[in-house]
Amino acid sequence: MKNILIVGATSAIAHACARQWAQQGARFFLVARNSERLQQIADDLAARGAPLAATFRLDIDDLAQHATMLERCAAELGAPDIVLVAPGTLPDQAACQADATVAVREFATNAVSVIALLTPIANLLEAQKQGVLAVISSVAGDRGRPSNYLYGSAKAALSAFCEGLRARLFKAGVHLVTIKPGFVATPMTAGLPLPGPLVATADKVASDIVKAVEKRKDVLYTPWFWSLIMLIIRSVPQFLFKRASL
Ligand SMILES: NC(=O)c1ccc[n+]([C@@H]2O[C@H](COP(=O)([O-])OP(=O)(O)OC[C@H]3O[C@@H](n4cnc5c(N)ncnc54)[C@H](OP(=O)(O)O)[C@@H]3O)[C@@H](O)[C@H]2O)c1
Repeated sequence: MKNILIVGATSAIAHACARQWAQQGARFFLVARNSERLQQIADDLAARGAPLAATFRLDIDDLAQHATMLERCAAELGAPDIVLVAPGTLPDQAACQADATVAVREFATNAVSVIALLTPIANLLEAQKQGVLAVISSVAGDRGRPSNYLYGSAKAALSAFCEGLRARLFKAGVHLVTIKPGFVATPMTAGLPLPGPLVATADKVASDIVKAVEKRKDVLYTPWFWSLIMLIIRSVPQFLFKRASL
């Protein structure tokens, strides 16, 4: 039976992962900002067979609460076998360009607060010398595009942080998988004009994440075809890339 800590448990992708783990009888410590939605998810997981679905309200931008959350997790869940870190926002790029305070706040939520949270989580897993840390970044971090470079740069920082952290934790027998989804139909992307055939469901992405955790994959592009798309996009030279309207 696995002990699973999920931060950002109200995310559609995280909830879809949790549903699959609940069917395997996992125990959960669920962390998110919206208490009401969090309790609905805990009840759903308990109904699907989870023997424990404890909850803790956390705004990840409140860095002072990170240690308290981990203390409660240790008391209620015990040592985690899997930690899934999912929080994120999709900033309004125009608003970030117009107002530096918006840009800094969005960068903080998507990069600084997540990195702050990963620091004590990494120390915990390193000390217990086992576990898998799964961190949701994005394909957007592979290249800075004019339409969303605030979000992309935050995810790039997170991906680079995870690459270094993976190599550090490897020596302690702890695995880190960086998850890079493409377009996923979730509340984050609702109403955006996305190219239909490239949009995956949260359930499909969750299946890939659950498998990647089991197989201890280093970097997961999900669905798989995003590894090819990003290989091409990363290879476009700057003199062409800067002319594109992506
Ligand atoms: N959907 C996509 O196309 C896509 C693509 C690539 C990567 N991703 C990444 O996948 C992850 C999950 O996103 P999703 O698609 O499942 O969207 P989602 O359902 O909107 O989930 C986003 C989650 O982030 C949480 N969150 C935002 N700010 C927070 C804060 N300050 N403190 C605590 N929680 C906070 C939200 O909590 P509240 O409900 O309280 O706001 C929500 O649970 C994110 O990291 C996102 O960047 C998504």
